[in-house]
Amino acid sequence: MPDVKRKILWSVLVTGTALASLSATPARADDPAAPPPAATSAAPPATPAAAPAADLMARGEYIATAGDCVACHTAPGGKPFAGGLRITTPMGDVVSTNITPDPDHGIGKYTEEDFEKAVRHGLRRDGSRLYPAMPYVSYSGMTDDDVKAMYAWFMHGVKPVAVTPPVTELNFPANLRITMAVWNLVAGSVAPETGDSATYDKMRRGKYLANALEHCGTCHTPRNMMLSEKEDSYLAGAPLLGWYAPNITSSKTSGIGNWSEDDLVAYLKTGHVAGLSQAAGPMGEAVEHSTSHLTDDDMHALAAYILQVPAKEDEAEHGPREAFGQALDVPDIRSGELTRIDKLDEMTGPHIYDANCAACHGGNGAGTSDHYAPSLFHNSVVGSAHPDDLIMTVLNGVDRTAGGLHAYMPGFDHGSDVQRLSNTEVAALVNYVTATFGSGDHGVTPDQVEKMRKQLPKTP
Ligand code: HEC
Ligand code: HEC
Ligand code: HEC
Repeated sequence: MPDVKRKILWSVLVTGTALASLSATPARADDPAAPPPAATSAAPPATPAAAPAADLMARGEYIATAGDCVACHTAPGGKPFAGGLRITTPMGDVVSTNITPDPDHGIGKYTEEDFEKAVRHGLRRDGSRLYPAMPYVSYSGMTDDDVKAMYAWFMHGVKPVAVTPPVTELNFPANLRITMAVWNLVAGSVAPETGDSATYDKMRRGKYLANALEHCGTCHTPRNMMLSEKEDSYLAGAPLLGWYAPNITSSKTSGIGNWSEDDLVAYLKTGHVAGLSQAAGPMGEAVEHSTSHLTDDDMHALAAYILQVPAKEDEAEHGPREAFGQALDVPDIRSGELTRIDKLDEMTGPHIYDANCAACHGGNGAGTSDHYAPSLFHNSVVGSAHPDDLIMTVLNGVDRTAGGLHAYMPGFDHGSDVQRLSNTEVAALVNYVTATFGSGDHGVTPDQVEKMRKQLPKTP
């Protein structure tokens, strides 16, 4: 089962750095430091009225799917929306909360007004601030109608679960929820969109989907010193707990400017476009839980909008990521004298590749003929100047179900059930793969691999 922990949160960074500078805040415990409860929390709980109209419920469910609420609000193996996912941050773990309609453990006592404040403004029902692990800055662009529909669905369409996840305990000063008010001032929020989002024209709908719901920029836009998304580098690529969410602006060398609308739609629908790209890690999960469930019209609107985002160049990239490489003209590196390698640490890149990858990706790197295991040349992950996603794929593997296809590649980390590769081996392998099929040897070191290994979700 895909471990949603991999769904990466920029909050991680937010709590790590932005808050470190806020230590002037008086040292008080978490909740006592919060402002007094807002008036709304005294209001009686929403009375479970008659079930809302079916179309309102359907819309609410669709908006919640597009917003990918389930990704963060579900623990690995846990009940949907019951919370408990630990989001590792340098200041401690932020634990997502139960947002099922259970009155005691979940958000059953939230009125529509309370819900709106949480989703669009990051305010909890008791008036305290939510950590920005909850992407309310993106959701602040949602229309009133969509928040309303989503509220109706959460209250009546989601099964209540009577479980309270562990309480978030961060280190000072991030444990002071009040410091979030400062972050919020800096990060700001956007004005909600107006009108009926279902009637927007294609480009406006695409923009709404990309920003207010799917929050693509949460992962793909780099952040400034205060870790807010840099407006002038929208979708220009950003590191993400070991992974790298690539530049997806319309640049033809650094971005996805050579992709057609149909390419991008296929990617969002299945996570796989032969000869171009696949979605592993956090992107695989976004595809599995969210984008693959959009209507065709919405996928096209989203793709059309993304593909016209102004180009932003990345100096590190010297050519389209997906254009590098060709099939290796050495069908069998073992030809000639048979050698036996007793000391695994003496294995070179080609040996490690041959022993661990060639069975699926082919000795020549061409993949399987049905593209189930993709070719490693003409592959944006291998051609990228940022080797991060290749390293993470080798450690973590791929496990994604979307568009009726289960894409599975084993990981080679310590928990691997096939073969554990050391840091030295992974570094040698990755350098060999990028030199042979991609944009060159990036000189990945064992230390770099160790750092990335540490970012992997901990296996229980
Ligand atoms: C990227 C991860 C992430 C996504 C996506 C996400 N949330 Fe959250 N949400 C969190 C975390 C973490 C918290 C708890 C934050 C805290 O304790 O300060 C939270 C808190 C909340 C709360 C406050 C509940 C309470 O009383 O503690 C509500 C309501 C909520 N989320 C609703 C939603 C809805 C609706 C969506 C989808 C539109 C959504 N969230 C998507 C991470 C996420
Ligand atoms: C949770 C973080 C996250 C979110 C949200 C996210 N992405 Fe990604 N995206 C990534 C990562 C990480 C990769 C690299 C995946 C890999 O290595 O296979 C990626 C890869 C991609 C690629 C492939 C680029 C290439 O050159 O191969 C495209 C296209 C893309 N994302 C589009 C989107 C769009 C559009 C959205 C919003 C609908 C989105 N992403 C939302 C993290 C994210
Ligand atoms: C059991 C078969 C199998 C083995 C062994 C295997 N792979 Fe894969 N690989 C796959 C499949 C299946 C995918 C996923 C294709 C998709 O996403 O649709 C994949 C995806 C990839 C990707 C693209 C991932 C991304 O981020 O988008 C790379 C790069 C890759 N493999 C490299 C390797 C390397 C290097 C090795 C050796 C350490 C290896 N693979 C071993 C089957 C395999």
